[in-house]
Amino acid sequence: MSTLQNRTVLVVGRGSGIARATTLAARAAGATVVVASRDVAALADAYDDPGITAESVDITDESSVEALAERIGHVDHVVSTASARARGTVDALKPDVVMASLNTKVVGPILLAKHFAKRMPKDGSFVLFSGATADKPTVGMLAVAATNGAVDAVARSLSVELAPIRVNSISPGTIDTGAYDALGDQKKAELYERRRAEVPAHRVGTSDDVADAVVFALTNTFLTGVRLHVDGGETLV
Ligand SMILES: NC(=O)c1ccc[n+]([C@@H]2O[C@H](COP(=O)([O-])OP(=O)(O)OC[C@H]3O[C@@H](n4cnc5c(N)ncnc54)[C@H](OP(=O)(O)O)[C@@H]3O)[C@@H](O)[C@H]2O)c1
Repeated sequence: MSTLQNRTVLVVGRGSGIARATTLAARAAGATVVVASRDVAALADAYDDPGITAESVDITDESSVEALAERIGHVDHVVSTASARARGTVDALKPDVVMASLNTKVVGPILLAKHFAKRMPKDGSFVLFSGATADKPTVGMLAVAATNGAVDAVARSLSVELAPIRVNSISPGTIDTGAYDALGDQKKAELYERRRAEVPAHRVGTSDDVADAVVFALTNTFLTGVRLHVDGGETLV
């Protein structure tokens, strides 16, 4: 295992949820972290640590990704948690919503690879985010499933193309990040209760569960092209 001492990690995503837990875990492991999303002011407010700097990026816009790479210069590891939700049944799904999901979770990471890999050391790595829906079809999650399946294919392909730079994906199950707030309190509570009853781990996941897996993926130098399921066994039942 390597460590993250004296390493720089770019974490794309919001200042809360999985991106925040990952940022704090990478800091605790010794890294300097650059956090980036479309809302740089919110990101800057979210942290009070000279080892964490906030940058603006829209990973669906190649010029924005290229400009970020030029501003930062060298990074050792890149983690993309960015997502645009595309929930809905097939009769109601709008193509632009599906495309936003694919652009954010699939095209965005490809652009990150295009502009950052050449600036990274041979022992650097990428972590992309897919999700349990890729394995477990659920009504209303068609576009999310398609997106997450594509993320895993991109991670596996990049792990061969960018080698020896490593590329892995993390596939969370149901994680309490605020991602389900839009369901409303009652539906969210029912969902969590269902998960506690059905999932082998008998609980809903936390952002820290996922951040631990990210640090593992960044530091285990023999891990590449792998999809890590951090889902409490949700996809098994
Ligand atoms: N939570 C779960 O249960 C769960 C389950 C399965 C998979 N996942 C995956 O795990 C990852 C993290 O989930 P989360 O719930 O912590 O976060 P999230 O709510 O999915 O947050 C993603 C953040 O990505 C940023 N973003 C969106 N589009 C962007 C763009 N074009 N460029 C740059 N940043 C962009 C947004 O921040 P700004 O508005 O500041 O740009 C957004 O708040 C996601 O990929 C998600 O799909 C989560």
